[in-house]
Amino acid sequence: MNADVQKRAAAARAVEFVRPGMRLGLGTGSTAKHFVELVGERVRAGLDIVAVPTSEATHADAKRCGIPLTTLDETPELDLTVDGADEIGPDLSLIKGGGGALLREKIVAAASARMIVIADQSKWVARLGRFPLPVEVTPFGFSATRRAVEKAIAALQRPGSLTLRLGKDGHAFVTDGGHWIIDAALDRIDDPKAMAHALSGIPGVMEHGLFVGLAHMAIIGGPDGIKIIDRPDISGQTELR
Ligand code: A5P
Repeated sequence: MNADVQKRAAAARAVEFVRPGMRLGLGTGSTAKHFVELVGERVRAGLDIVAVPTSEATHADAKRCGIPLTTLDETPELDLTVDGADEIGPDLSLIKGGGGALLREKIVAAASARMIVIADQSKWVARLGRFPLPVEVTPFGFSATRRAVEKAIAALQRPGSLTLRLGKDGHAFVTDGGHWIIDAALDRIDDPKAMAHALSGIPGVMEHGLFVGLAHMAIIGGPDGIKIIDRPDISGQTELR
């Protein structure tokens, strides 16, 4: 079973949690794209939902699939967001932002009563940090913000290298919100909650890719099928199943 088949299987399982009338958040990335396509199939078969996309790319995909779209201004509270991740830890803390959509992804997840993260099993890790942590910053004052990010990380653990993400054109990658991304190669994140807090306090940092306490459930596709993991601190309390 290759990774894409595992992603599709996880997305298909997540679709089973979608109920008529739901207001959905649609994630970004190759795994979330499977979910969007599968929800699109259901919509074309008569399922009545509305959805908020987390990026321009997902907006285009959802539109192509015929999914009725709304915005957080029209629909500020969502029932369920389904999104992928770059890493998923045992407490369902996540690293996201490999695709550069972390800011909108976090706003949408935070506006949702529930978040399900879907992934192939390569994303499941014992500890976060092997995947470089994306930190979205304003271009204004970039060097000062970069230095502040470095200091904040150094106060918590050994700082790794911080790299400005580049686009295909060799210039700074620009997010949907017009910001840049620093990828922090940390190797391991000892305390994701403390790191999230420290980065959130830096002026110029618009958002970072640590999603702590946002995901309620993970659906992981693996060679032996699907595994469903509830967040340990809320296990049994979620209305998802
Ligand atoms: C987009 O910014 C990311 O947060 C994605 O959700 C993450 O990179 C996972 O993407 P894939 O599903 O393509 O691995």
